[in-house]
Amino acid sequence: MSNLNTTTGKVSLKNPVLLASGTCGVAGHEFEPYFNLSELGGIVTKSLSIKPRDGNPAPRVVEIPGCGMLNSIGLQNPGIEYFVKNELPYLIKKNATIIINIVGETVDDYAGAVNFIRDKNEISAIELNLSCPNVSGGLDFSQDPKKAFTLISEMKKLTKIPLWAKLSPNVTDITEIVKASVDAGSDGVSLINTVLGLAINRWTKKPALPRATGGYSGPAIKPIALRMIWDTHKKFPNIPIIGIGGIHTADDAIEFLLCGASCVQIGTANFVNPKASIEIINGLKDYCEKNKLNSISEIVGAAHHLVTLSGA
Ligand SMILES: Cc1cc2nc3c(=O)[nH]c(=O)nc-3n(C[C@H](O)[C@H](O)[C@H](O)COP(=O)(O)O)c2cc1C
Repeated sequence: MSNLNTTTGKVSLKNPVLLASGTCGVAGHEFEPYFNLSELGGIVTKSLSIKPRDGNPAPRVVEIPGCGMLNSIGLQNPGIEYFVKNELPYLIKKNATIIINIVGETVDDYAGAVNFIRDKNEISAIELNLSCPNVSGGLDFSQDPKKAFTLISEMKKLTKIPLWAKLSPNVTDITEIVKASVDAGSDGVSLINTVLGLAINRWTKKPALPRATGGYSGPAIKPIALRMIWDTHKKFPNIPIIGIGGIHTADDAIEFLLCGASCVQIGTANFVNPKASIEIINGLKDYCEKNKLNSISEIVGAAHHLVTLSGA
C-alpha cells in the first residue's frame, strides 16, 4: 500500500497536495459540495493583511483561452483579526491542515498580522506572500534580496511556526532571493506566484484590466515554475520547496515532485475543476502503485539524479 504522507521541512502533510492562496476563497467554504478539506495535504488561506482590503476595481480577471488567466484582485481580504475570529474556527472544525498566508506593505504590517497567529498550535505553517504583482509595491520584498532577508528574519523572531516565503518569478535569478530567504531562516520556499502579464481589449482599445498589468497563472506558466524549482533544488538541495504554477493534473504534480518540490499547491485549476486537487491525490496514489513506491517522497528531486548520471 503506497504512502502519500510527506514532509516539507518541519511540516508533516497527509499528502503533498494543497490548495493555493487566493484560489480557494478565504478559507475554502466553496469546496464543501465537493470534498472535505481534511482530505487534502493542506489549505493555504487567501493573503491576509493587518487591515481589511477592498481590492482593485473590476474587471479583475481575464481568461487567456487554453493558457490560463490574468488576475488583478488586489489582495481583497477581511483582515487577519476578522479571519482569526470568524474563519479559523471553521478550518479547525474541518480538521484541515492550515497554512495562513500573510501579506503587508511594510515589515510592521507583516509583524502586526503574524502577531495575531504567532502562538496558534493549529496552524502548520505561515506563508509570507512577498510577491503580489497586483498592488503598488507588492513585489518590493521579492525583488530585493536585502528586503526579503530583513522581512523574513524579523518574522522569524516573532513565531516558532514554520515560515514559507512565497516568491515571485518576476526576477532575473530566483536563487538570489531563495538564498536570502533561507539565510533569514525561512523553513521553505513557495515557488511560484503569478507572472506579470497584460491583455488588450481590441474593442475598447485599452488594456483589459484597469491597472493594465495582472498576474498570469495556469497551464502556460508551468515550464517557468519548473525551471525555477529546478534551479533552486540544484543549488540548494536541502531547501524544502512548495511547487506552484499551472498544476492541473496528477502528471503535472509528479513533474514538480521529480523536479525537487516536496509538495504542490493547486491554483487556477480549482476554477476549472473544483475537484482537481482530489483527482490529483488519486492520481498520485496510482502512480505510487504502478511504480511500486513505498512513499511518494522517494521521487522528490529524482530528475536531478538522472541528469547527473547521464552527464547531461
Ligand atoms: C484569482 C487569483 C488570486 C490569487 N490570490 C493570491 C493571494 O491572495 N496570495 C497569494 O500568495 N497568491 C495568490 N494567487 C497566486 C496563486 O496562489 C498561485 O501562486 C498562482 O496562481 C500560480 O499557480 P496556478 O498557475 O496553479 O494558479 C492568486 C492567483 C489567482 C489566480
